[in-house]
Amino acid sequence: MASSRTPRHDVAAAAACLRGGGLVAFPTETVYGLGALATDGRAVARIFAVKGRPSFNPLIVHVADRAAAARIAGFDAEALALADRFWPGPLTLVLPLRDGHGLSPLVTAGQPTVAIRVPAADLAQALLRAVDGPVAAPSANPSGRISATRAEHVREGLGDRVDMVLDGGACPVGLESTILRTGPATLLREGGLPAEAIEAALGHPLPRDVTPGRVQAPGQLASHYAPSAPVRLDVTEAAPDAVHLGFGPVAGDLNLSPESDLGAAAANLFDHLHRIDALARARGLERIDVAPIPEQGLGRAILDRLRRAAAPR
Ligand code: TXA
Ligand code: MG
Repeated sequence: MASSRTPRHDVAAAAACLRGGGLVAFPTETVYGLGALATDGRAVARIFAVKGRPSFNPLIVHVADRAAAARIAGFDAEALALADRFWPGPLTLVLPLRDGHGLSPLVTAGQPTVAIRVPAADLAQALLRAVDGPVAAPSANPSGRISATRAEHVREGLGDRVDMVLDGGACPVGLESTILRTGPATLLREGGLPAEAIEAALGHPLPRDVTPGRVQAPGQLASHYAPSAPVRLDVTEAAPDAVHLGFGPVAGDLNLSPESDLGAAAANLFDHLHRIDALARARGLERIDVAPIPEQGLGRAILDRLRRAAAPR
């Protein structure tokens, strides 16, 4: 489905570009990633430069399947069970590095662990199989800004600093992957796979280590995902000097999901933030008010992103 916008030869060209040390933005089911070959230190260094990202923040490594992941990192029984259940999909596992992993130390920020993900999107799968190597990729947005869920967002944010953009249309999940540390499984970042689904698979509550200020993930920085205009949450009636992002019965200028569907709201979130930010600029309004959103299932990941968008800069 996703590949309708990107002909097959473009995937081959993108794979060749990556193998030659280039940067390729590509769609996953969560958000667009800014990819480089994870074994090529110079290419990985360009990711940090292009995003303006601090280099102490490690990157997620993308591989086509669990066999490829197992060449890089060790899996305990619980990690194996989680990978079996949720890969390919919006789950990232932080695992111990194996000897001879071959990754640039920039990818892991010199830590003994690596964050790995097997994306489900057709185009991501096709690219990873064509590259036949691990691809390091953060979200394809300037550091601290709104994530990209469409190829146009990537072009607006990063422009010609990227060698190629594969266009797969809109990302169906729309929120970054859920990140778990393993041994024992601990939630590091809420994301596109609801914690409830992981808890159901584990058969027990998931411990959380999402302490703000303790930077294990830049998405855990207090201010992140930020539009240009300041954001205020939980607003049923917008102030006259604000544009209003609605949800459910709170109509707003733009609505994340008139049907109060959290999956649809997640898929729309970053695109609507890009659009409502542009609307605020066009109308000369200085704030974005956001309607209340229930804190359950994907609602928790949506609120996590919105709170960081609303945090003091
Ligand atoms: O859905 C996603 O996860 C997207 C797509 C492109 O795959 N990627 C993404 O990457 O959101 P990024 O860089 O924006 O966020 C990855 C997070 C970072 O916050 C980073 O700190 C964390 O993963 N991370 C990477 N390696 C880690 C490690 N060894 N231990 C703990 N956290 C790690
Ligand atoms: Mg990001």
